[in-house]
Amino acid sequence: MKSDNKKQEMKSANSKPVIKDNENKDYAELVVVKPVGYPFEFNLMDEDIEITNTKLFEEYAREQWLGLEVCEKSHLFDQKIIPDYGFEIVTAKPNNSIISEKTKIKIITDELNKLNDKSKIKSKLLLSDIVGQKNAKNKVKVITKYLENPETFGPWAPKNILFYGLPGTGKTMLVKALANELDVPLYLIKATSLIGDHVGDGASKIHDLFKKASENSPSIIFIDEIDAIALHRSFQSLRGDVSEIVNSLLTEMDGISENESVITIGATNNPTSLDYAVRSRFEEEIEFSLPDDEERLAIIEKNLKTMPLKYDLDLNKIAKLTKGLSGRDIKEKILKTALHNAIANDSNMIVMSNIDYAIKSTKIKNQDIKGMFE
Ligand SMILES: Nc1ncnc2c1ncn2[C@@H]1O[C@H](COP(=O)(O)OP(=O)(O)OP(=O)(O)O)[C@@H](O)[C@H]1O
Ligand SMILES: [Mg+2]
Repeated sequence: MKSDNKKQEMKSANSKPVIKDNENKDYAELVVVKPVGYPFEFNLMDEDIEITNTKLFEEYAREQWLGLEVCEKSHLFDQKIIPDYGFEIVTAKPNNSIISEKTKIKIITDELNKLNDKSKIKSKLLLSDIVGQKNAKNKVKVITKYLENPETFGPWAPKNILFYGLPGTGKTMLVKALANELDVPLYLIKATSLIGDHVGDGASKIHDLFKKASENSPSIIFIDEIDAIALHRSFQSLRGDVSEIVNSLLTEMDGISENESVITIGATNNPTSLDYAVRSRFEEEIEFSLPDDEERLAIIEKNLKTMPLKYDLDLNKIAKLTKGLSGRDIKEKILKTALHNAIANDSNMIVMSNIDYAIKSTKIKNQDIKGMFE
């Protein structure tokens, strides 16, 4: 085993750790590595590797790298099966520690696995952080009850749910809060990342996704921007691989049996652009609507709590002025722009003139939003 790290030389022939120079160093609890390829280009070599069994990889890697010092952003090299293949150390806990027989070694194999790593999408969001969206919250209540007690639901279990609505209304936020509050794995995937370079990539990723979710059930699959892959038939001819992905999605959705607690949530801005066969498999379509006056006020209040500057604002007036805007627009386009405007003016207080500036400079006008779903 080699490393770009000098401590490598200290290893003994039988791969046992040599503590000598590392006496003051801790043993590593966790090391996360990412395959990065060879240090040079060579036509006969394929840069991509596929790790099919992460548990076996862990043992294989630990044996090779035992006794080496790990430092984030440095590299470790394989010396056995694929000599000189490099792995970047993404995380070392603690940093500059020594790999021992107890060190957990994890590998980030591809985008899907990165997303499947539950901790990656663990957020601190709570369902109570989401303002409004009562229908969606009611459905979430049903999902929670079901996951607590799946046997009682039998064929009446929640299975496939579609969240739809204008951008920035809280669809992704709600699913993240759900994953945080429920102690079940959530497999989040952006549908656009399923469209690969090769025909068949997306279909096999979908298969892997559902396989992992059912192996680890009860679990939730969240397919964000599902319209990107489940396009209406009339658009599918534009992309051959998309129709293959649609078929694969249908097969997998049908393949989840009654007694497997796997819930699929899809999110889209526009349900009418979905393939009908896919759309019909969602038992319920839940609309995320734009916030009303009270909800806008609540969104403004929640966001102001984290403002780095003090403020002297008429919140009811801002709620009125932002009619027709989504939660995201209120936060990103109004409050953030107002804050930046105050900072740019060397002020330590956000005032109504900063809000007026933000409202004037925002490109989205109320008229553009109204009527999109009419
Ligand atoms: N109902 C809401 N309550 C509180 N904050 C909200 C709400 N809706 C949106 N926001 C704010 O807007 C941000 C973006 O929301 P989110 O990403 O969930 O929108 P989305 O519906 O998934 O949009 P898109 O369709 O573009 O993916 C959130 O992180 C939050 O700050
Ligand atoms: Mg979203």
